[in-house]
Amino acid sequence: MARNKVTVIGAGNVGATTAQRIAEAGLADVVLVDIVEGLPQGKGLDLAEAAPVVGHDAAILGTNDYADTAGSDIIVVTSGIPRKPGMSRDDLIATNAGIVGGVVKSAAAVSPDAIIIVVTNPLDVMCHVAMQASGFPRERVLGMAGVLDSARFRTFIARELGVSVVDVHAFVLGGHGDTMVPLSRYSTVAGVPITELLPPDRVKALEDRTANGGAEIVGLLKTGSAFYAPAASTFEMVDAILRDRKRVLPCATYLTGEFGVDGLYVGVPVVLGRGGLERVFEIELTAEERVAFDKSVNAVRELVAALPA
Ligand code: NAI
Ligand code: 2OP
Repeated sequence: MARNKVTVIGAGNVGATTAQRIAEAGLADVVLVDIVEGLPQGKGLDLAEAAPVVGHDAAILGTNDYADTAGSDIIVVTSGIPRKPGMSRDDLIATNAGIVGGVVKSAAAVSPDAIIIVVTNPLDVMCHVAMQASGFPRERVLGMAGVLDSARFRTFIARELGVSVVDVHAFVLGGHGDTMVPLSRYSTVAGVPITELLPPDRVKALEDRTANGGAEIVGLLKTGSAFYAPAASTFEMVDAILRDRKRVLPCATYLTGEFGVDGLYVGVPVVLGRGGLERVFEIELTAEERVAFDKSVNAVRELVAALPA
């Protein structure tokens, strides 16, 4: 059986760490692409030289040439510039739209059946750019953000209650920005909603920390943004797709009426399998949650409108 092939565009922090996770799990052969000459080749070779020690047989190739990416099953897009302290995700829009549009065009041309996972910020807007540049249907263009935001919420809930992260489930919806919507009513410890385990002010504090989770890391690192948790989250989506797991994960998804939204990428729970987006997993929102979700949707809509023509 032919091995799966995953192309990771951008050999920076998120891209290289994602490539490492995929290869070391033996999930797929990996092609690492960057615009900087030598960077993907060097990191690719370094990763390949770890293989005998780790004990996997995935092939890893670093390249500047899209011909090497031909026939990929998945294309992960991390190329772009990251946030610096004081910058919002939205400040990145014009630069990263140019980068994402260009790389997606090149990669999609040689992998016409691939599924694209966008990571570059501002995330929801870059998904629009990727869908347009590839011409792929919504089932095959998804964005990674909700898994990361939910993982942050899970971490904070587990620490607050002194329980294993494994027993904590959390849902974060909406755009990947300050208006994201941590859904505490659907966030549980062993099935029990955290709204029954914590007082409202503590729930609110954890929600706020989650919404500021990216900025918290940027403030600490000072020279870039988070990458270990983003790479782990991207890996989870790649794994769900290649192994056809039908995982229910929050992903940036082009909505066509679901959740009352039409023609916009927004983070919602979906079923992820070999076909990419297999189903939008619709859930009921309370009036209060609806207000927060709509605010987040409007924030994404404004950013998309600000995309350079
Ligand atoms: P990084 O700066 O470490 O890596 C970015 C890489 O992209 C660099 O190696 C750069 O040379 C490359 N690049 C730039 N232009 C390119 C082009 N035209 N073609 C190919 N490669 C190109 O940045 P990092 O930390 O890996 O972050 C990457 C992106 O992911 C940023 O936009 C960041 O904001 C975003 N991000 C999104 C997250 C999410 O939840 N969606 C989480 C973490 C990061
Ligand atoms: C994060 O949430 C920078 O969007 C990135 O860490």
